[in-house]
Amino acid sequence: MIDKHGFMKCISCSSTFNIDQNLIVCPKCGGLLEIINEKEVDIKKLKGKGVWRYKDFIPGNYNKIISLNEGNTPLIKSKRFENLFFKFEGLNPTGSFKDRGMTIAISSAASLKYKIVVAASTGNTAASASAYAARAGIKTILFLPKGKVAKGKLFQSILHGAYIVEINGSFDDAMDKIKKLFNENKDVYPVNSFNPWRLEGQKTIAFEIFEEIGNPDFIIVPTGNAGNIYAIWKGFKELMNLGLIEKIPKMIAVQSSGSSPIADYIMGNKEKIEFVENPETLATAIRIGKPVNYMKALKAIKDSNGYAIKLDDKEIIEGQKELAREEGIGVELASASTMKAYHKLLDNGYINKNDKVVLILTGHALKDPNIWFEEETYSIPPSDVEVLINKLKI
Ligand code: F0G
Repeated sequence: MIDKHGFMKCISCSSTFNIDQNLIVCPKCGGLLEIINEKEVDIKKLKGKGVWRYKDFIPGNYNKIISLNEGNTPLIKSKRFENLFFKFEGLNPTGSFKDRGMTIAISSAASLKYKIVVAASTGNTAASASAYAARAGIKTILFLPKGKVAKGKLFQSILHGAYIVEINGSFDDAMDKIKKLFNENKDVYPVNSFNPWRLEGQKTIAFEIFEEIGNPDFIIVPTGNAGNIYAIWKGFKELMNLGLIEKIPKMIAVQSSGSSPIADYIMGNKEKIEFVENPETLATAIRIGKPVNYMKALKAIKDSNGYAIKLDDKEIIEGQKELAREEGIGVELASASTMKAYHKLLDNGYINKNDKVVLILTGHALKDPNIWFEEETYSIPPSDVEVLINKLKI
């Protein structure tokens, strides 16, 4: 049954296709596909909570729905800044925003009767794919950069029973292997973010923000493979197409200075994007030199009149500490970059205190505690407790 409420379009060669969850990349040129949703949705009539509340916005046929009640994450108001909000995606079922996309991708794979899903990952996609595939009774094969995946994420993938292939190389090398496997073997369904169906789930972040606080001025997104910033932009674009908002919030990409091809392109007004051969950052989730979705991300940033910014690891750690100790929100390093980015953009006048800003806190702190045991002396001898209390009570 063809879904007539939309179509698919290649971002590179502009070829169009009927809606088909089997289509991952353009069959003509191999380019990224966009899913154009043409359904008229009355947002006031939606029912339920989480990603599937928005099923009318998501084309495709889902005779099997594989869900862990993802989405419906809290939008927490800052204690210190009047117009700042935190979308805490770390509270999704596996601890990251990936679950929003994974429920759609794995439901597609299950509906199409695939037995195996595959993914390259810096860790969170792996954890999410493993959990959702387990629930669907589908096997997962993961390609991971050896020694570069945070322990919490690797543990989740092992726990949910994924088959793990460790690559001596970067995430980008693992991604090349997945693309090759997918080109050569039609038995596997890739659930990386070059799969446009995943981004259909992730765009629901925009819908939830809109339903709760209306239209923000800025959305700040940690950016690696660059699917999420496009997905959130796409959500707002669809709200605009329905006449619900007049303009799209400015989309701000944040990258780590050791792996910042998108930020370098935007900040440097470069003619063309230059990939980073050996990306390096403690924020391993976004340790990506060749973002597969860069064309989509640039479209989102340019169309929304947005911007990009890069931060070094020290600044990102400061952001993590600040969010944890001032706001009580524990996030992993990649997500913490958005806090520091907010300060920098306030300081340089790009963002004003009156602007309504949402930081997308993509992953939970428990994913990656390692650096905290290396850096801090956190233990106090029992004999010092009296002294400590006397010091703290003042
Ligand atoms: N934040 C976290 C916590 C992530 O895990 C990722 C990506 C991003 C931000 C960036 O999102 O790729 O859509 O720009 N993690 C991927 C993974 C690459 O394999 O888990 P993006």
